[in-house]
Amino acid sequence: MRERYLPASTLSGLLGEWADGTGPAYRVLAERLRLLIADGRIMPGSRLPSERELTDALGVSRTTVASAYRELRDSGYLMSRRGSGSVTALPSKVMPELGRHHAPGIDAEGLYDFTCAAPSAIPGISTAVASAAAELPVHLTTPGYHPQGLPVLREEIAAAYEERGLPTSPDQIIVTAGALAATSIAVRAITQIGDRVLTESPTHPNSVDAIRRSGCRVVAVPMSPGGWDLPLLEATIRQTAPRAAWMVVDFQNPTGWLMSAADRQRLALAFARSRTTAIVDETLFELSLDGQEMPPPFASYDPDGVITVGSVSKSFWGGLRVGWMRVPEALVARVLDARASMDLGTPVLEQLVVAGLLRQRSTLLPERRAELARRRDALADAVSLELPSWRFRLPSGGLSLWCELPEPVGSSLVGVAQRNGVLLVAGSRFSPDGGLESFIRLPFTLDTDALREGVRRLAESYGDPGTPTRRTGAMIA
Ligand SMILES: Cc1ncc(COP(=O)(O)O)c(C=O)c1O
Repeated sequence: MRERYLPASTLSGLLGEWADGTGPAYRVLAERLRLLIADGRIMPGSRLPSERELTDALGVSRTTVASAYRELRDSGYLMSRRGSGSVTALPSKVMPELGRHHAPGIDAEGLYDFTCAAPSAIPGISTAVASAAAELPVHLTTPGYHPQGLPVLREEIAAAYEERGLPTSPDQIIVTAGALAATSIAVRAITQIGDRVLTESPTHPNSVDAIRRSGCRVVAVPMSPGGWDLPLLEATIRQTAPRAAWMVVDFQNPTGWLMSAADRQRLALAFARSRTTAIVDETLFELSLDGQEMPPPFASYDPDGVITVGSVSKSFWGGLRVGWMRVPEALVARVLDARASMDLGTPVLEQLVVAGLLRQRSTLLPERRAELARRRDALADAVSLELPSWRFRLPSGGLSLWCELPEPVGSSLVGVAQRNGVLLVAGSRFSPDGGLESFIRLPFTLDTDALREGVRRLAESYGDPGTPTRRTGAMIA
């Protein structure tokens, strides 16, 4: 693994106000560092500053830093390498639980896993797989490579856009291995190293990582307590003229906000004026839970300028690994070019399965939405009852409650909760710039009994002396 050096000043910034007086300083420091590593804010393989450098930066005794490093070494979060100092690591047993590439369900037996906002497969998927298998033989005589996607699936996807009032040709559709892959490809296709890409904050962290890994600089615009701050977005677009913007306007992950038609129109105009290509991620679009009418697709306000990303991960099943892009005609060749160095297509069988599922979406999705609405309400009730000082807005769709705690204790709560069998991701992970320590995202994807028991244990953890709390204030629904 290639090491990256974390300067003492950067580490000191990440630690923030860590000395909270709840125990010996070295132990508090070790716990803060452990959470930063486990939470993905400090990447495994990062070389920490020397004990002397960190001692100077934090203004603590050398013994405090030395003892904290020793604790981390003993618990497997730090390795000493001759010549390269102290390098962070994830002990293998916590990797599936807390690593940033957490795989939901794996090794999570007996744990209440709130780290992943993705439901299990819809009932009926096995039937769709059986029908797809029956269609497979005609494809077996071909090489099976379809860099743009199987025509039959592209037709279904294009028809779904037409149904939403956005004229779309199957030639504009590119099938990918999920929405994240689509975002990576789109960013690669339209940006160059050093370009600015605008995003919301908070937002889906893996997509931000994908943008950064393409060499782009992320310009994160904070969401306001009432949703998107249009004047702030417009001002930021004017001032920074980003090359691209990656936005989640349908039940934004993690806040759950849905952008109004008027704001879509206004934002699309701002992007067009600054020649910013909007990449709009509609992964959660199908999950409206209160029967409301959905606003027109963002791309309908600039059909030749916006790239739309879609996926069946949340509507049908993440295990299918099928997503897509709707690309303006003039960009199709460039996007396919960018894709060619990443992969050469999506598995044929899965594409056939998804084509079948999309054909039946009007019968399959209502039950999906009804079940998620039940889970959302059960989670909201449980949080209101067990954690009355947490505030959240009941989202009209999507997969999670975005909870604000009275104090910035998110990262410490993650560690305490884990010891109580509850896996969480701290709010800071959803912030491209750090911060958001007062927030926790709670997905409502577990079944209702598990949600209730998970929240009960979470409330116990929140009351644990390891997490400083003040039980005041009322929740807002
Ligand atoms: C906004 C958003 N985009 C992309 C993804 C990943 O989707 P996929 O599984 O299709 O790659 C997620 C999953 O949480 C998401 O919330």
